[in-house]
Amino acid sequence: MCGIVGYVGPRQAAPILLDGLRRLEYRGYDSAGLAIQGARGIEIVRAVGKLENLTRAVEGAKLDGSSGIGHTRWATHGRPSEPNAHPHLVGDVAVVHNGIIENHLELKRELAADGATFSSDTDTEIVAHLVARARARTPSLFLAVRAALERVRGAYALAIVSGAEPGKIVVAKSASPLVIGLGDGEVLCGSDVPALLSYTRRMLFLEEGEMAELSASGVRIETLAGESVAREAKRIDWSPVQAEKDGYKHFMLKEIFEQPRAIADTLRGRISLEQAELVDGELGFDAKVAQGIERVVLLACGTSYHAALAGRYWIEQLSRVPAQAELASEVRYREPVFTKKDLVIAVSQSGETADTLAAVRSAREAGARLLAVANVLDSAIPRAADGSLYTHAGPEIGVASTKCFTAQLAALFMVAVHLGRRRGSLAEPRARELLRGLLEVPAAMRHALDRKDTVYEVARRWQHARHMLFLGRGLGFPIALEGALKLKEISYAHAEGYAAGEMKHGPIALIDEEMPVVVIAPHDAQYEKTLGNLQEVRARDGRVISVVTDGDEQAARLSEHVLEVPALPELLLPLVTVIPLQLLAYFIAELKGTDVDQPRNLAKTVTVE
Ligand code: F6R
Repeated sequence: MCGIVGYVGPRQAAPILLDGLRRLEYRGYDSAGLAIQGARGIEIVRAVGKLENLTRAVEGAKLDGSSGIGHTRWATHGRPSEPNAHPHLVGDVAVVHNGIIENHLELKRELAADGATFSSDTDTEIVAHLVARARARTPSLFLAVRAALERVRGAYALAIVSGAEPGKIVVAKSASPLVIGLGDGEVLCGSDVPALLSYTRRMLFLEEGEMAELSASGVRIETLAGESVAREAKRIDWSPVQAEKDGYKHFMLKEIFEQPRAIADTLRGRISLEQAELVDGELGFDAKVAQGIERVVLLACGTSYHAALAGRYWIEQLSRVPAQAELASEVRYREPVFTKKDLVIAVSQSGETADTLAAVRSAREAGARLLAVANVLDSAIPRAADGSLYTHAGPEIGVASTKCFTAQLAALFMVAVHLGRRRGSLAEPRARELLRGLLEVPAAMRHALDRKDTVYEVARRWQHARHMLFLGRGLGFPIALEGALKLKEISYAHAEGYAAGEMKHGPIALIDEEMPVVVIAPHDAQYEKTLGNLQEVRARDGRVISVVTDGDEQAARLSEHVLEVPALPELLLPLVTVIPLQLLAYFIAELKGTDVDQPRNLAKTVTVE
């Protein structure tokens, strides 16, 4: 999730672009760059690290020009480095991009065979090559971009300039956001409203499959197919702070609602339904290695550990390898036994958690094969691993992890399918059915999010509860743990997650009319047993809040409150059952007035023991 900006008008472009990037830094911040069109043609300045490094580099470069584009990056393809920073320049065409080009490997091979040379590891550079080549055959940059995009599959918000057409920016959109701002004799564009808000409140929102040409005199919008589009500008009344959060009150709520996109991006370009397989390459192990694995150990802390627990169920079921999930903070002090036949999967949103890194190092010393599932490209844990499967959730700013958790689930599910296929324990039709289900998750999540008002009512009813119990079986168990952790972290209420089957071994003593019990009870293989727990809670006057599959009247009759989620193949239910629990924690915290995005005593990245 990167941020892009563009400016064309009478003023010096560089300071305006830098200001826009500053407001988009929440979308990415591992490197940044500008391309300015001026009398000297196109000049590019890029810098690794935070935006202040680019600001310093721009001061030294004495740029001069009144149109240009800029980018702040959150790496997905190619580690954070200057060559991988945007804009990418090929010939006199400079490109900034937010999104993922799915068929970049195929296009890269084709371009290389035709003599192209590449100066970065990014998918974006492919677009620059395609546009530069098309520009040589067509009379305008606008038409060249259209011709190039006929070849491109994937998600993009693009802003492109050419040295041959000063004072013009061409933009295009597919599945990544792009806003155009109409100023007085000047036009801006950006990934999001905050980048433009200091300059104008009149905005045009590009829709799917549209492109536009921006110049100081105005905007021309067309579809990628060449039909012209008439669009009215809207007036945006958000404050700059509201705008950064896309109108949401907190980053956490915004990130909860970003989950459909985070999952779609994490799956994008990685699944081949035809072959019922993952599009290979990233995992760092082939069929021979997969067959030699005798045990899978998942290492993680906190929320990532809950994702690891779900991963263990999937790996066991689909690949029939013994699998275990371990708290990295325990493993590192335990003199653990790892062997060369272990596949160790380290799950970490930040990729920097000290305990997880230390556990990974002890596995490495024993010769285990290491796979990282991380959200931050080139962070310490992926660097220590043989292979990495990155989640593409974009930066997560709320300290309580939400979209990174579900993106980790999606990634681990892909690993389980991959292992199952490579070890011959997962038949092609079943794998195809599962992968098809996985591709339906973003839509199912949207439906789950649509029910936020019901969750809010439950939060209002229970906002003063001092304790809450969360119960789940099978894949519902990690979700019960996660629901309890979310509530603890941000609302400071005491909450316990338990395997529902353990209830009778202790926690049942806690239940009385004061105790809300959240039961994860969707239609799965354990449903009947979970209903049994629900009845036991009711029989002791406990207050049941159940998370159930749409239209489940049986569970509804036994519950005081029902939170419905859409039906999905059973194994994928954790990706939707967690959503009402994230919202419940959020709304309770919000009603209590706690500092939701920065809860007390917590840090986003835990680099200490
Ligand atoms: C909870 C949360 C933490 C992290 C944990 C591990 O909302 O975010 O429990 O999951 O600190 O962090 P990573 O995933 O960065 O290794």
